[in-house]
This record gives sequence, structure tokens and C-alpha cells, in this order.
Amino acid sequence: MADRYAVIGHPVAHSKSPWIHAEFARQTRQDLDYGRIEAPLDGFARTLAEFRAAGGRGANITLPFKDQAFAYCDGAVTERALAVGVVNTLVFDGGKVQGDNTDGVGLLRDITVNLGRAIAGKRVLLMGAGGAAQGVLAPLLAAHPGRLMVANRTAEKARVLAQRYGASAGGGYDALRGEQFDLLINATSAGLDDAAPPLPAGVFAPGALGYDMDYGRDTPFLALARAAGAAAHDGSGMLVEQAAESFQLWRGLRPDTAPVLAALRRR
Ligand code: ATR
Repeated sequence: MADRYAVIGHPVAHSKSPWIHAEFARQTRQDLDYGRIEAPLDGFARTLAEFRAAGGRGANITLPFKDQAFAYCDGAVTERALAVGVVNTLVFDGGKVQGDNTDGVGLLRDITVNLGRAIAGKRVLLMGAGGAAQGVLAPLLAAHPGRLMVANRTAEKARVLAQRYGASAGGGYDALRGEQFDLLINATSAGLDDAAPPLPAGVFAPGALGYDMDYGRDTPFLALARAAGAAAHDGSGMLVEQAAESFQLWRGLRPDTAPVLAALRRR
């Protein structure tokens, strides 16, 4: 029987991870089966236990269970997962559950390798202070930006987050007046309301990149970036890169992400 993996979340019906991992498996000739499991909101641990008992070898964990997945680990947790306090990849190794977080490295690889943009020394703005922003702040800071500001609708949350991780500053969107950034990353869920974060005019530096961690659709933030003359990219590349990192953890080899990303964009 093929080794079993799955993405576990609520909801997961929209998840592209099963398709991505099936592509990786085909490319690398790995015999594996990757499904999607919707866990009840009050039944994450139970769902995981059932999946392990049925022969599950590993899982990707998505909203809203990344905190619970972190707490569930009783084996080794990688340093990069400890740094962000949430886990998106579990490895079931014997009786133990190991945890990792591949979101940050996925974002960094997409920006620096796929899009060919430097982060070191650049002025970076991270929008949002929820789980998505928290998951990438430490990895972004580790890439040595010249300056990294966190902005959020609820200013206090951005202040707390910035202080906890040692970002340059955190606050509301008004505080960005007069600032310019080379890389602007949208980690808010404003797109779900069909809105963009309320950025003051002039924050996109010439040649800037607007990056939306959302994927698969043209968000108001991406439209705003384009209107400001910036390059605009959604989070499809981050999605594929974090998946590749999980795949490598489970199978010991790294798939070639470029053809999979190109095929995903054509879908
Ligand atoms: P996630 O896990 O996706 O980060 P979350 O923890 O609910 O989801 O956080 C959502 C983020 O999007 C928050 O930073 C939220 O701002 P508040 O902290 O002020 O709620 C931000 N957000 C949601 N809708 C927004 C909107 N219309 N404009 C700006 N920011 C928005």
C-alpha cells in the first residue's frame, strides 16, 4: 500500500495541496497517497489519532489547527517552528510526532529564488498581525531586511508583534504616511472582504514588489500594487515552495517546483 499523507484543516475542500503533492510524487516517482481531511473544530486530536492509526505517515496542518498541531508534537520540533510557535507539517515517526513549519522558508524562496528579489537590506512592510503574519515575521527578520515594519488595522496588535520579534516598528496604517517600501507583503484576510489594507498613498517605492500571501485570485491589494506601478504577485509560489519543503521532510528528496508552479498557474 502507498504511504499516506493528508492536509488537515477546516475547511479543506479548496486546498490545492493534494494536487501539488500528487505532481511532486509523479515527478519523483514516489508511491504515495495524499488526501484531504476536514477535522471537526473540536476534534483535531481525535482526527489525527485516527489518521495515524490508519497508517498516516505525515500531514500538513492548515487553519485553524496550526497552534494545536504545535501542542500535539511529542517528538522533535524544528528551531524554525519553535521560533514562530505554530506548525504546518507533522512527521509521524514510530510512536513520535515531529513538527516543522515550512511557511516561512516557502515565502522566502518564492521571493528570493522564483521572483529574484533580495530581502537583505531592503525596506519591508508586513501587513496584518494574525496567524499568517506571525508565521512569516521571524523568517523575514532572519533574512536581514534593512527595515521591517508591521502594520495592522488594530494598531496595538502590530505593536505587540513587532516588539516580540524585534521588528523595526509596528502600528496602524496611518503611521506609514511618508514611508516607502521595496517589498510589501499582505498577510491580512482583507481580500476575503474584497478589500485591500488601507495603505496611505506613496508607500510603494519605485520598482517595489507587492506580494499577497493569498493565492489563486486577483485581490484588491494586488490591484492597488499594480496601480502604484509596482510588480504584483500572489502566494501561489509560496504555496508550492512550502509544499516542496514538507515533501522533502517526508521523502528525503526535493521536487523541482518550477514546472508544478507553472502548471498550477495554468489551472
Ligand atoms: P490569519 O490566520 O489569516 O492571519 P487572523 O488571525 O484572523 O487570520 O488575522 C486576520 C488579519 O487580517 C488581522 O491582522 C486583521 O486585522 P485586525 O487584527 O485589525 O482584525 C486583518 N484584516 C482582516 N480584514 C481586514 C480589512 N478589511 N482591512 C485590513 N485588515 C484586515
